[in-house]
Amino acid sequence: MLIANLSPRSMGKTTDTGMMGHAFHEAGYPVQLWDADESEHLSQWHEIAGFPFEVKKNATARFAEEYTPLGERGIDIVDVGHTENHPHIADSVLKVADLAIIHMEASMADYQRMHQPRTSTKVETMVRRSALDRPSRQAPPLWVLLNRVRSNVRSEREIRDLLTEAQYNVFTVKIPMLDEIKQATGFPVEKAARGPFGELVTEMQNLGLVKNA
Ligand SMILES: Nc1ncnc2c1ncn2[C@@H]1O[C@H](COP(=O)(O)OP(=O)(O)OP(=O)(O)O)[C@@H](O)[C@H]1O
Ligand SMILES: [Mg+2]
Repeated sequence: MLIANLSPRSMGKTTDTGMMGHAFHEAGYPVQLWDADESEHLSQWHEIAGFPFEVKKNATARFAEEYTPLGERGIDIVDVGHTENHPHIADSVLKVADLAIIHMEASMADYQRMHQPRTSTKVETMVRRSALDRPSRQAPPLWVLLNRVRSNVRSEREIRDLLTEAQYNVFTVKIPMLDEIKQATGFPVEKAARGPFGELVTEMQNLGLVKNA
């Protein structure tokens, strides 16, 4: 099972990837993370904090050919470099992903960057066109995860409404602005499954997006 974490630009994706990895691990799944971003933030975070699972690097257009997934029960999660700057990496990942997640803040700036980009290909378009490169000829399911959500209910509701109107699937679970996450690399992760990331694992199980551990 390969989950592709995507965003047009910096939108909290590396943090979400690391935290999701820990939440799945704590829920009893074998986990492997993939760093497909040239910045190698996820790998640096692992080097400093020592994740209890492997983080492998492959920020190339050969991801699909070179990646070796965990077995049936395993969860592989890939932190994909910005689709704005590295569409070739995202295209390769999407050939083999079982689920695509767009990570964004509940802000108009992130919504426009994601849904109405001026100079780059829309992430949704990349996901849809990946169907041509997949044995099933079907694109992976696409979901949106709202992160860094401030306790300003109005903007969250507005963005959810816009996303729903535009026919995106949006997780009910949101990742709040968390004080303990000060920077993307380095902080030690403890008890990820007890917070919103654990709730996200449960929602993904309930939706049938992942099998139970
Ligand atoms: N839930 C959160 N609460 C507070 N801060 C967060 C949260 N998630 C991420 N951040 C912070 O937001 C910034 C961007 O997050 P992150 O590096 O994960 O995004 P990214 O999409 O991987 O960006 P890039 O790879 O372009 O640097 C970081 O400083 C990170 O610590
Ligand atoms: Mg990153």
